[in-house]
Amino acid sequence: MTLLITGGCGFIGSNFVRYWLEHHPEDRVVVYDKLTYAGREENLAGLWDRPTLSLVRGDIADLDAVRAACRENDVRLIVNFAAETHVDQSILGPLVFTETNVRGTHVLLEVARELGLRLHHISTDEVYGHIPDGHSSVETDPLAPRSPYAASKAAADQLVQAYHITYGLPVTITRGANNVGTYQYPEKAVPLFSTNAILGEPLPVYGDGKQMRDYAHVYDHCTGIEAVLLRGGVGEVYNVGTGREMTNLEMVDIVLRTLGKDHSLVRHVADRPGHDRRYSMNVDKLRALGWEPRYDPRQAVAEAARWYAENRAWWEPIRNGEFREYYDRQYAERLAGNAAR
Ligand code: NAD
Ligand code: DAU
Repeated sequence: MTLLITGGCGFIGSNFVRYWLEHHPEDRVVVYDKLTYAGREENLAGLWDRPTLSLVRGDIADLDAVRAACRENDVRLIVNFAAETHVDQSILGPLVFTETNVRGTHVLLEVARELGLRLHHISTDEVYGHIPDGHSSVETDPLAPRSPYAASKAAADQLVQAYHITYGLPVTITRGANNVGTYQYPEKAVPLFSTNAILGEPLPVYGDGKQMRDYAHVYDHCTGIEAVLLRGGVGEVYNVGTGREMTNLEMVDIVLRTLGKDHSLVRHVADRPGHDRRYSMNVDKLRALGWEPRYDPRQAVAEAARWYAENRAWWEPIRNGEFREYYDRQYAERLAGNAAR
């Protein structure tokens, strides 16, 4: 079978491609990626000479290009990781989030409908909005997104469900918790804090740092998606996480201790507007498919921090390049200001 993996040069997509090639060597994988700032061919270094792996550079919002990539490669299954993914970037410049996450997903659905393909969509726990203490989201909960990023992902999630209901398109959806692991772009909290700590720069913690996240290992997200692809019910949605949350301050503590750095690097800075306090998901439905997470979130965060210490050659060119401009825009004023708890 041939899979079209959109966004396969990004963080989770590249981990998934690596995982799939290793565990399903009989399949062919076509990575379809626009190669935005977050998509990097080097995330799949060492794999490009495999005859079962190829790259098509393209935009998921380009219907003709998606159709051609699927036809020319005899694709049977689309797995959609492609997205604009950073909440802070969605606050600074939201329109591209609608273009890629909503229109792009819609284009994939149209091509899947026209060519009779199955589509698996990667959604997120952010579609549930922030969750009060004592509750963990189940798949049937209403969606209540609160950032431009989350709203675009919720729209995509619902379009995918609508295509199943209206056209009978064979779709599945996974809603992932915060992932950590190898090749995560340094705009996200764990790689940002790890690389800042390594460089001896301050760690900008938004607000009081007591927001709760389930920092799941990207490996467990990959095996969760695999379980759904192999055994999931058509038209069904599955949460993927560990079901165990920690505060951002606990996450920072693990990063600093793993890297042997001092807490004096922590700076409480002005909060993210509309910052969701807590995400929490119930993952029993995925467990019922025989899946279990391998990693505890504490172990996942520590392992990720260590990877950044051991792989400076991957992230230093990013941090010294285009990332600098974004970093200054996002943090210069915050870090110059007073602590905002
Ligand atoms: P990422 O930002 O690291 O990578 C995104 C990839 O999509 C990049 O390779 C980029 O080049 C590509 N892309 C962007 N726009 C495109 C377009 N218009 N056409 C084709 N390719 C395009 O993202 P990630 O963190 O790996 O997230 C992957 C998916 O998982 C996203 O759908 C995201 O919403 C979802 N998700 C992420 C997390 C997380 O913690 N990172 C958690 C749950 C769900
Ligand atoms: O929950 C799944 C989502 O996880 C994915 O859908 C998104 O694509 C992914 O970006 C991530 O979203 P978050 O906003 O939760 O992740 P981020 O790494 O940006 O932030 C994690 C927490 O850390 C959050 O509470 C905000 C906080 N934070 C983040 C940054 C970048 C800080 O305190 N300071 C920072 O500089």
